Amino acid sequence: MAKFKVFVTRKLPGEGLKKLYTIADIEINSEDRVLTKKELVDRVRGKEGIVTMLTDNIDTQVLDSGTNLKVISNYAAGFDNINLEAATQRGIYVTNTPEVLTETVADLAWALILGIARRLVEADHFTRSGCWKGWEPSLLLGNDVFHKTLGIIGLGRIGSAVAQRARGFNMKILYYNRTRHESLEKKLKLTYVSLETLLKEADYITIHVPLTPLTYHLIGEKELELIRPTTYLINTSRGSVIDEQALYKSLKNHTIAGAGLDVFETEPVNQNNPLMKLGNTLLLPHVGSGTIETRITMADLAIENLMCVLQGTMPQNLVNSNVVQIRPLN
Ligand code: DGY
Repeated sequence: MAKFKVFVTRKLPGEGLKKLYTIADIEINSEDRVLTKKELVDRVRGKEGIVTMLTDNIDTQVLDSGTNLKVISNYAAGFDNINLEAATQRGIYVTNTPEVLTETVADLAWALILGIARRLVEADHFTRSGCWKGWEPSLLLGNDVFHKTLGIIGLGRIGSAVAQRARGFNMKILYYNRTRHESLEKKLKLTYVSLETLLKEADYITIHVPLTPLTYHLIGEKELELIRPTTYLINTSRGSVIDEQALYKSLKNHTIAGAGLDVFETEPVNQNNPLMKLGNTLLLPHVGSGTIETRITMADLAIENLMCVLQGTMPQNLVNSNVVQIRPLN
């Protein structure tokens, strides 16, 4: 039987591809860098399946070159890099890798909370610099986390996992979400509030919403003005959920205390990005799901999802379920 033709846009960790080789001829971008639009367009041509990264912009130009495409398996929980509507219209199944990265991203959100509150990066630099002359009553004082108020924007899987960890810190936990989750409120002792109340009352605000037209710049100038000067903002979701220019102003003017960011409006962050010059930011290179275990599990799941569609069975993580009406699985 002829094998399927598959393109994988970056090398993946783990052994998952071995399984895929049994049913597919696989082309991999061996250069280990993000492909240009032209390269992507060329290499998608003639493929039935592709495994994509959040750095691949799968727009109509790419979709139009993939006339044989049946499935796009995104190696990420977020799928804002894919024109979902256009893929659906073309009968292309789109899958993602949620769940397997929940705890890992929640850990990183917590690393940012603790890191920015206790000035860990600054303290590390100070220790190595030779400036440390001995214990001092006022050396590198940070802020407490325990017993403070945590505000979670977006109570999906990751937001809930962040809340669960906050219980160990005896925090008061507020959350804002499109829909209320009363059973989780009871289980995790959460209080449902409006976005406005959350912004006004939390000491630490952490964002866990997907990037959609509704959440684009959810936190803009108006929202930042509600945040107190002692409050820290954490973002491990997508950069464009925050208006970065407005955030810069708030941080520079110290109308908010600081920000721990794993994601940015433009990635990689340009060296001239003014956020880089501020002392009250802790900046990471989009490594939310970046542990060995999780990245391997994500690869296995992405390959599993791809193989399911190619072989005519329902994948575990279909994000455009309405595609089934357009191209039913055999
Ligand atoms: C995702 O999977 O969407 C995360 O941003 C990866 O870190």
